[in-house]
Amino acid sequence: MACFWRVGTLGLVLVFHLLIQTEAITNPVDARALQAFYRTLEDPDGALRNWQGNHPCEDMWEGVICSPPQGPSNVTFVTELRLFMHNLGGTFAPELGNLTQLQYLDVMWNHMTGSIPSTFGKLTNLYLLLLNGNRFTGILPPELGSLSGLNRIQIDENQISGPIPPEFAGLTSIQHLHMNNNSLNGSLPRELGTLPNLVHILVDNNNLNGYLPPEIANAPSLLVIQLDNNKFASNATIPTTWGNISTLLKLSMRNCGLMGTIPDVGGLQKLEVLDLSHNTLTGNIPNASAFPTNLTSIDFSYNQLSGQIPESIGTLQMLEYLTLRNNTIGGVVPSNLGTGRAFQGKTGSKVIDLQNNQLMNFSSSLAALASNTNTVIRFAGNPAICGPNQDLTNPLCIPNNDPFIVPYDSTVTMETPPNLCQTCDFITVGYRLKSPGFSTFDRLDKQFVDYLSSGLNLTQNQVVLKNYMWQHGPRLLMTILLYPENSNSFNQSEFDRLYTTFSQWRIPDSEVFGPYELLSFDPRTLPTDGASKKRLSAGAIAGIVVGASVLAMLVTGLILYMVHRKRQPSPALMAQLERLNRMKRNPDLKVAGVTAFSFEELSQATNNFSDENQIGQGGYGKVYVGDLKDGKQRVAIKRAEQGSLQGAHEFYTEIELLSRVHHRNLVILVGYCDDEGEQMLVYEYMSGGTLRDHLSCTPMDFPTRLRIALGSARGILYLHTEANPPIYHRDIKASNILLDSRKVAKVADFGLSRLAPVPDFEGTTPGHVSTVVKGTPGYMDPEYFLTHKLTDKSDVYSFGVVLLELITGLHAISKGKNIVRETHSRMVAGQMLSMVDPYIANYPAEALEAFMRLAVSCCSNLPEDRPTMSEVVRDLEEIGRRFADMLPEGYSKDTPSSASSDALIQPRNYTKNYPDNADTSELCSGTVMHVAPR
Ligand SMILES: *[C@@H]1O[C@H](CO)[C@@H](O)[C@H](O)[C@H]1NC(C)=O
Ligand SMILES: *[C@@H]1O[C@H](CO)[C@@H](O)[C@H](O)[C@H]1NC(C)=O
Ligand SMILES: *[C@@H]1O[C@H](CO)[C@@H](O)[C@H](O)[C@H]1NC(C)=O
Ligand SMILES: *[C@@H]1O[C@H](CO)[C@@H](O)[C@H](O)[C@H]1NC(C)=O
Ligand SMILES: *[C@@H]1O[C@H](CO)[C@@H](O)[C@H](O)[C@H]1NC(C)=O
Ligand SMILES: *[C@@H]1O[C@H](CO)[C@@H](O)[C@H](O)[C@H]1NC(C)=O
Repeated sequence: MACFWRVGTLGLVLVFHLLIQTEAITNPVDARALQAFYRTLEDPDGALRNWQGNHPCEDMWEGVICSPPQGPSNVTFVTELRLFMHNLGGTFAPELGNLTQLQYLDVMWNHMTGSIPSTFGKLTNLYLLLLNGNRFTGILPPELGSLSGLNRIQIDENQISGPIPPEFAGLTSIQHLHMNNNSLNGSLPRELGTLPNLVHILVDNNNLNGYLPPEIANAPSLLVIQLDNNKFASNATIPTTWGNISTLLKLSMRNCGLMGTIPDVGGLQKLEVLDLSHNTLTGNIPNASAFPTNLTSIDFSYNQLSGQIPESIGTLQMLEYLTLRNNTIGGVVPSNLGTGRAFQGKTGSKVIDLQNNQLMNFSSSLAALASNTNTVIRFAGNPAICGPNQDLTNPLCIPNNDPFIVPYDSTVTMETPPNLCQTCDFITVGYRLKSPGFSTFDRLDKQFVDYLSSGLNLTQNQVVLKNYMWQHGPRLLMTILLYPENSNSFNQSEFDRLYTTFSQWRIPDSEVFGPYELLSFDPRTLPTDGASKKRLSAGAIAGIVVGASVLAMLVTGLILYMVHRKRQPSPALMAQLERLNRMKRNPDLKVAGVTAFSFEELSQATNNFSDENQIGQGGYGKVYVGDLKDGKQRVAIKRAEQGSLQGAHEFYTEIELLSRVHHRNLVILVGYCDDEGEQMLVYEYMSGGTLRDHLSCTPMDFPTRLRIALGSARGILYLHTEANPPIYHRDIKASNILLDSRKVAKVADFGLSRLAPVPDFEGTTPGHVSTVVKGTPGYMDPEYFLTHKLTDKSDVYSFGVVLLELITGLHAISKGKNIVRETHSRMVAGQMLSMVDPYIANYPAEALEAFMRLAVSCCSNLPEDRPTMSEVVRDLEEIGRRFADMLPEGYSKDTPSSASSDALIQPRNYTKNYPDNADTSELCSGTVMHVAPR
């Protein structure tokens, strides 16, 4: 067991020798099981594309780790499936139950569906079952109860329903039951009380009902019970036995529908956090002769507690968070409240929240506490103290109606230690504490780094806490950076050791920090703080192989090794690298519908990417025009710059996404190139150039403008409603709308949001919305800018700006004037039509006005005031229909007018003479620039 094949350089060499010198063979039953699994999986990125043939172990299938050959026949067995964040869908195959030697089953953070097969009950060697962050449904099979060696079940954040089977009494080795955020129902089985090793019961955010079984208290090793947000029976109470769990550190039962009284908690000797808030508990706060001395947090808020605050609470030296708000507690606040060591300390944010009670008075020392320390004290809603009408001149009486005292979702960025190596590569780890034993973190950050570095066997200098953020739970989300020591990068075995330490939960449990989740593990530098060129490009190279694929990691390791050591690896390693690279570029593994080009082909098509072929430049790199197939096909090629390369995983996701998007008003993806460390996207070439250039340079009649508006609106509508998953463009603007030779509008650059460098948490939390505001000034939804919440209405806003450009000919922002504000103020002044491009001012005012009103409504400040994209399309069609007979050249729907239609109106003296017109583009000399996708 100690000597699994290491996935790393060492492993490679081993494999190499094995292939040549022995005839090791994967147990055929194991091979069949994986083949069956491959058939039930969906693998949109081709992450498992080397799962071919009958030899998973010898052929080093992605994510498959095997035991060393056993027995005279040299048979190897699969011991580990390591498929963390591989973007996998599909279901488990029952055949996986035949992997008799499997110890680690890790499919965390994919989007797998279906249920957990009952055959998993046959995986008698299973140690970790890690299924969190998927879309699994169905029930927990009772058969799992026979896995007596199982240490950990993590099914959190799925849609698993049904009860927790009483058969789990057979999980005699289990320590961690992490089943939060599912749809489990039934009651908490009393059998869990028999489990000798159980430390964590996390079943918060489910639909558990029934009663809390007193027998749970018999489990001898319990550290955390977290049951928040369940719906226990309306007369469910907290069993008195639970007050005697002498090992317990945390008891959290917020919003569980509990009634009755709070039992004596004096027996919870080690307790640190007690949260019984948002229930209907009655009676007094127990005056435990001895409250647990290590209590740091007490939350009894939003109950119906009465009586007085017991003096024993004031004696707690570690207490830093006490909230009793919204009860009917009366009497005088004991004079010792706030005298504890933690409250008296100068550092750390602390809370005493007694709002909305019937308290009579408090000691002056408590008022002093508020002014001398970081302690927040709240008495609002206690009429005897703050007066019947709230005396707002007293700072202690200012009400705070935020039901959560912890400020969720605000990021705290830590100071970067000054001694960090600026040119080193580092690993970025997405990490989350899912049941912390504290309520304020600011006093614990150094202790946390100590804890983690010792758990990882790194020095404290190597572990950097970059930032953290409280999330609902409460859970604490963090970004952690790991730095190499005495070198510029991690070697492969160290990289692998660190990954394994995290993903196999080898970091010891902490009494303070509680259980953690691994959310991402990227050998990627952060696109931040003016990092040196060298560091960025090295990171970019590393970025090619993000995705935590073992295969990819290996390549990364070798590339980084070469980049930084500037030494040649041994010929054997080079041969292996070559072999892996070939595997990665296997030409059979194309994304359906698009062509995989080699670097060579595209280089030839563009005269070695010559300056003459360059037709554009964007944030991510340059755009070239190229001729493929001996000049028979003209294409536009977006070539990512080193700093903008994405992980292979993301790159393929994007291509796969784009390849499935087909609409006549969207620019077609022809192919891509992922070769020689380059990433390129190949599009159809649009000879008509961008809408922006046309508006600036060539006159267009109103019907043409209407047709372009309608065409682009239809393209965007398709992205919002027909693409699967829906795509929000995020960067709609006149220069992203291209015209073909017949002036049919096609929207470009959709789905490319991820081509730009990504922020810390990007991609680490599935389904999240980017918190980085991207877009072009002048086009950006003000609501998105403020809230960072991206919706379809953000695109509607940007499209409204395009409509304004179409009708006025102006730029979104010109000479400091914003087209939206300008139109709005003229509209208010009743001079809307003064904005219309003089070139089309002779068209019917009703048509122009209707167009303009639609544009303005798209640009409403509040998203809910904007139309949806389908309403926009409908309105544009309506304008076309209503005014068709007034418009020249038989305007109909979006059929392109004949090529001659533009010639109807000759550009006589085409000048735009607004006072604020900035459209005197020098670009307009001669022909329209043929700029392809940005
Ligand atoms: C098993 O491997 C050994 C070397 O490790 C080799 O000598 C032996 O022939 C192999 N047996 C079979 C059946 O392949
Ligand atoms: C493996 O599992 C499947 C389904 O659970 C079963 O049908 C099959 O016969 C099993 N045994 C072997 C040797 O593949
Ligand atoms: C709770 O109420 C139900 C009926 O509504 C009753 O049958 C049950 O005995 C009660 N349980 C407790 C613990 O009071
Ligand atoms: C309280 O915490 C301290 C420090 O973590 C620990 O040493 C002590 O044993 C704890 N007390 C109890 C009663 O568990
Ligand atoms: C808390 O108490 C205040 C004042 O009595 C009341 O207005 C508010 O609705 C209460 N909040 C909850 C969640 O019960
Ligand atoms: C920790 O690292 C040191 C050297 O960095 C090494 O000597 C020691 O064996 C390691 N310990 C463990 C438990 O890995």
